[in-house]
Amino acid sequence: MPRHIGIIMDGNGRWAKKRLLPRSAGHIQGAKAFRRCLRYCSSAGIECVTFYAFSTENWKRPQEEVNALMKLFSDYLDEGLEMDDDDVVMRFIGDMTPFDSSLRQKMERMAADTAGNHGTVCNIAVNYGGRDDILHAVKRLMKDGADADSLTEDSIGANLYTAGLPDVDLIIRPSGEQRISNFMIWQAAYAEYVFMDVLWPDFTEKDLDAALEEYSRRNRRFGGV
Ligand code: FPP
Repeated sequence: MPRHIGIIMDGNGRWAKKRLLPRSAGHIQGAKAFRRCLRYCSSAGIECVTFYAFSTENWKRPQEEVNALMKLFSDYLDEGLEMDDDDVVMRFIGDMTPFDSSLRQKMERMAADTAGNHGTVCNIAVNYGGRDDILHAVKRLMKDGADADSLTEDSIGANLYTAGLPDVDLIIRPSGEQRISNFMIWQAAYAEYVFMDVLWPDFTEKDLDAALEEYSRRNRRFGGV
């Protein structure tokens, strides 16, 4: 089993387009798929799962779509975890500075309220970019007085948004696209990728099982033989 799964929730727009619905309808269904998968990861005892919900590049989308996504996050934070997700530790990774203070406070509250739980750690990546993650880590180190020779892979890793969590083992990307899109590029150095044709709103527990099965067949060598 992977210790850490990353999921690129892609295909919401196409799901909506196929049904002649606005893109936001795809995101609403996508949020349901997110809940489904989190519940499943939690019941399967997965140590850590990271969902890519909003990238540093997603601000380029029409304002209406960005607003709809912000409302979805806000509604989720208001509702809180479902009963079966009760043991999940919720974290939010990315640069939170552009979000309005009410959304930021809600994220901080959910993170604080769940910090003492003992189950799956769920990261939601919002305004997240892999390059920004690395840049942010290096800036933090340098502000703390690090000089060039003291930088190590471990010191950079310890200053990423995912500090303290295992590197990502498996990245799942639905919707037929085969690219990384700036997702956890440092943490995914040795990740296995599983690309699937299903659109994210249609993604079910069965798809997650299929991805896990594919992962179990991979021979991971980490550069060795
Ligand atoms: C990419 O699909 C998806 C997004 C940019 C948004 C993902 C966000 C969610 C699924 C909501 C998650 C909700 C919570 C509460 C965490 P796309 O719109 O680019 O799809 P397309 O490529 O088919 O257009």
